[in-house]
Amino acid sequence: MSRIAYVDGRYVPHRRASIHIEDRGFQFADGIYEVVAVIGGRRFDEPRHFDRLERSLGEIDIAMPMSRAALASVMDEVVRRNRVDNGILYLQVTRGSAPRDHAWRDDAAPVVVMTARRQLPPRAAAVEAGVAVITAPDQRWRRNDIKSVALLGNVLGKQKARRAGAYETWMVDDAGRVTEGTSTNAWIVVGGRIVTRPLGPEILDGITRAAVLDVARELQIAVDERPFSVDEAGAADEAFLTSTTAYVLPVTRIDDMTVGTGKPGPITARLLENYRRLIDEFVKS
Ligand code: PDD
Repeated sequence: MSRIAYVDGRYVPHRRASIHIEDRGFQFADGIYEVVAVIGGRRFDEPRHFDRLERSLGEIDIAMPMSRAALASVMDEVVRRNRVDNGILYLQVTRGSAPRDHAWRDDAAPVVVMTARRQLPPRAAAVEAGVAVITAPDQRWRRNDIKSVALLGNVLGKQKARRAGAYETWMVDDAGRVTEGTSTNAWIVVGGRIVTRPLGPEILDGITRAAVLDVARELQIAVDERPFSVDEAGAADEAFLTSTTAYVLPVTRIDDMTVGTGKPGPITARLLENYRRLIDEFVKS
């Protein structure tokens, strides 16, 4: 079956899908994206993704390219045409194409691109054994709350992890504190309390982060939204990371430090179990 992409108003074969060379997303990374989990053919936590999309676009002064309802019907169509039961939907909105100039013209028409593909949830082996992360300086810009397609710092960080045989790089600010992973939020567990960096310009407001905070509240697990250092993470009882594609994934090594017992911890396991329950409820709803 050939894949279909949505590009600026048209459904086209994926391998022939293209944008203009002067699309500002291509030349300036002047655009916003979202990655939404597709579960049982439906989009999980869609309202939160729309809220974040609208906010990110607003922060860089791009208008919503169409209403939520219209975007949702394109998403439905992209998921349907690609026969994605379980996987991800990628949505990108750029400021559109115009002769290259750093400043933009207010009449630029945003360009919307969507793709969908099948993808399995995180491997059972990774969930059972936990994954390793390395740390590296956070070299990104100062507005990481905006889900911009400018991902060079993230890309370089992820490749560093790949080369080191690790799953992820946790990026570290100038004060030695973890901001987040290159495509995931970072968490530790200390004395029964879960700790994650508070929202702010240094990190993305992860949709999975928000869902895990809901789960923690429901389970009455105490949460401290505060920064933590690499040393504190290495000495923590448990660590994990979250994202739309990774769910809740235990972290058992940070650089050359073993986290806790070296095995996924009980609080991480409870959070994952209950996050999965949310997914099951969604599938049945
Ligand atoms: N990444 N932090 C960063 C820098 C991210 O890129 C992501 C998501 C997250 C987790 O956010 P969420 O829970 O909404 O997926 C945190 C997506 C999956 C990606 O770029 O592919």
